[in-house]
Amino acid sequence: MLWVITILIALHILAGVFWAGSTFAIARSGGAGADALFGPQMGAATVTVLAGIGLFAILHRGPPGPMEHTLGLGALCAVVAAGVQGAMRKKNPLKGQRIAAALLFVTVLCMAIARYVH
Ligand code: HEM
Repeated sequence: MLWVITILIALHILAGVFWAGSTFAIARSGGAGADALFGPQMGAATVTVLAGIGLFAILHRGPPGPMEHTLGLGALCAVVAAGVQGAMRKKNPLKGQRIAAALLFVTVLCMAIARYVH
């Protein structure tokens, strides 16, 4: 089982870093590259969310505590971020990326601190 967790965490973090990082970069550069990067961003979002669900299912069974609530808040923000990026893609991509950047900021923070929240 350890190898499954290792692969899932590697996929989760690699894809998550690309998704969040590209979102921050586009939001800070006036929307440059938003169109070209939309596909890769949604691909990375899919891998991140699926691997995250897998990790949660393996590592966090049983009654939820502070760590699970923190991960859950981060996950919720990530899913909303993907929805906003998709929904605002045509109308106002820069605004969509900026809102998603704020949400993914919360996600990354939650993921990073979750194990230390008691
Ligand atoms: C629906 C979306 C997401 C879900 C369900 C999710 C779920 C999880 C779970 C279950 C873990 C494992 C915690 C443990 O070690 O027990 C984790 C770790 C982590 N996640 Fe996510 N995650 C999501 C989105 C993201 C995103 C967008 C990022 C952006 C970079 C991210 C970054 C991380 C990092 C860096 C860790 C490692 C934390 C550590 O080992 O201390 N996650 N996530």
